[in-house]
Amino acid sequence: MNKKIIVIYISKTGFTQQYAYDIAVDLHAEMVSWDRFDFDMIKQFDVVIFGSRIVAGQIDKINAIKFYVKDNPDIDFILYVTGAAPDTATKEIDKIWKENLTFMNETLPHFYLQSGLKYDQMNIIERNLVKAFAKFLKMKPHQKEETLKQAELMSDSFDHSSIEKTVPLIDYVKELTDSN
Ligand SMILES: Cc1cc2nc3c(=O)[nH]c(=O)nc-3n(C[C@H](O)[C@H](O)[C@H](O)COP(=O)(O)O)c2cc1C
Repeated sequence: MNKKIIVIYISKTGFTQQYAYDIAVDLHAEMVSWDRFDFDMIKQFDVVIFGSRIVAGQIDKINAIKFYVKDNPDIDFILYVTGAAPDTATKEIDKIWKENLTFMNETLPHFYLQSGLKYDQMNIIERNLVKAFAKFLKMKPHQKEETLKQAELMSDSFDHSSIEKTVPLIDYVKELTDSN
């Protein structure tokens, strides 16, 4: 049986949307933005992949995502989140999972896909927040070399996204859909 798969993404500056596209093409899945999806139709899908972004350590819309996951035990849900932090920032990323995914004891399959920053597509409040955070990291005494480099990078727009980063998620979904 062919599984019906959909990627539902939340994206402001485009990174999470681009990853949704890359994933949907590879998996022959549908894709739709969060705002355009009619959630009454969620039961039509066997696999639902949510894509979201990190905002100040929080996964955007995680409370609503939790609701759909809990309410639909027959659907296989997978989550990916995009952020500016490098893949090597394992402490920071683990903290995000711990703080956001405790509702399922972190058993919701989840993937971190590094993206970047697009200042020109942020609103003024978001832009100032990120700039202030980068400045704070730089000014903090006894900061690690790696954090200082990250702060420097965050002072401007950058793009560290790449299609290769979707491979673990795609492999996971292929294994899941082949084995059922
Ligand atoms: C206000 C704001 C706060 C952010 N906070 C974080 C953060 O805590 N950790 C992180 O890794 N990235 C953070 N980012 C970067 C975004 O998560 C990243 O750019 C994301 O890919 C944006 O997704 P989008 O392009 O789909 O909107 C932040 C971005 C903004 C605008």
